[in-house]
Amino acid sequence: MSKYQLIATAAMGLEAIVAKEVRALGYECEVDNGRINFRGDELAIVRSNLWLRTADRIKLVVGEFKATAFDELFERTKALPWEQFLPENAEFPVSGKSVKSKLFSVSDCQAIVKKAIVERLRKHYKKTTWFEENGPLFKIEVSLLKDKALLTIDCSGAGLHRRGYRIGQGEAPIKETLAAALILLTNWTPDRPFVDPFCGSGTLPIEAALIGQNIAPGFNREFISENWGWITAEHWNEGRMEAEDLARYDQPIDIAGTDLDHRMVKIASKNAIEAGFADLLTFKQMQVKDFTTTKEYGVIVGNPPYGERLGDKAAVEKMYHEMGQAFVPYDTWSVYMLTANENFEACYGKPATKKRKLFNGFIKTDYYQYWGKRPPKDKDEGINKRLKE
Ligand SMILES: C[S@@+](CC[C@H](N)C(=O)[O-])C[C@H]1O[C@@H](n2cnc3c(N)ncnc32)[C@H](O)[C@@H]1O
Repeated sequence: MSKYQLIATAAMGLEAIVAKEVRALGYECEVDNGRINFRGDELAIVRSNLWLRTADRIKLVVGEFKATAFDELFERTKALPWEQFLPENAEFPVSGKSVKSKLFSVSDCQAIVKKAIVERLRKHYKKTTWFEENGPLFKIEVSLLKDKALLTIDCSGAGLHRRGYRIGQGEAPIKETLAAALILLTNWTPDRPFVDPFCGSGTLPIEAALIGQNIAPGFNREFISENWGWITAEHWNEGRMEAEDLARYDQPIDIAGTDLDHRMVKIASKNAIEAGFADLLTFKQMQVKDFTTTKEYGVIVGNPPYGERLGDKAAVEKMYHEMGQAFVPYDTWSVYMLTANENFEACYGKPATKKRKLFNGFIKTDYYQYWGKRPPKDKDEGINKRLKE
């Protein structure tokens, strides 16, 4: 079966997690800045789109070469086998970017790449007139970095964070891909309680449920490459059937989200229904300072307000302190908080076990991790048993 060179793009700082996910799908890969390179066949394109929780999108590499002059870009683009991917009626807009490169005019690079592909396809399809471009869409990108041109076709369409369940959202929703990464960075396993005390639109609880029941995050959406023809309906059926077989809908989960704002609780509940978890997740209105539990060995993951708006900082820092106090009695629980507020540890009341730098969009944040006591082996079994009963 034909092998393609593929890229899973990753937000800065998430490369290692995306690479781990790619390897878990069974593909060897190497990590570069913002990209995870791997090779695979049509099913690899299907699987990576359906399964990667933390990647931004999947791209197919048509070629990569050095280009310091426009004629070089033109000739080397024309030399690539575009007809392997693009049918005669393909619609193929070209977007571009250029960083630290001699060819810095992005619009010129786009026009040259477009012209080179048209020439190549004209010769192949023996066409003398213009292409009508009324067929399937192939989004081509020319990306120049330090005089190296990378030509790719987007296999995802809407970014992979668009799982399709978020029909409502609040002011600062976290991207689904980052939410999944935050959860994969914890010691949570689906047999432990999971709580997001700042649940907003419910992204973290919903992503936890998808992970807990091993549900492919892209199961309920479409991808641009479904319309290409050479990745056939059979390939997509096979990928989706495989995902259906791997899902563990009967895995018990104990996942809750709470939020100060009752409107967000409503939105989170609606999103959870959309994601297919109507009765499985619990949402309720509550301030973090009122957190209590009788459960043990749970995991708390949250993306609280950062207090960046003028006048908010003091109130947010007071809230961090109250949160730290509320969590004191629960030393078997682990706590993970993502915030840009540099006073977090001082306000919360203790230094984190571990910190990890991450970006939430363009905001520099730290992921503060407070590890709780490890469950004793038999205790762990006890929890499993109780949840299964
Ligand atoms: C950054 S948003 C969380 C976004 C959420 N992760 C999502 O994807 O939609 C922070 C949330 O914390 C809530 N919040 C603010 N202060 C709170 C408090 N003292 N206790 C509980 N929730 C609070 C806000 O209502 C808001 O929904």
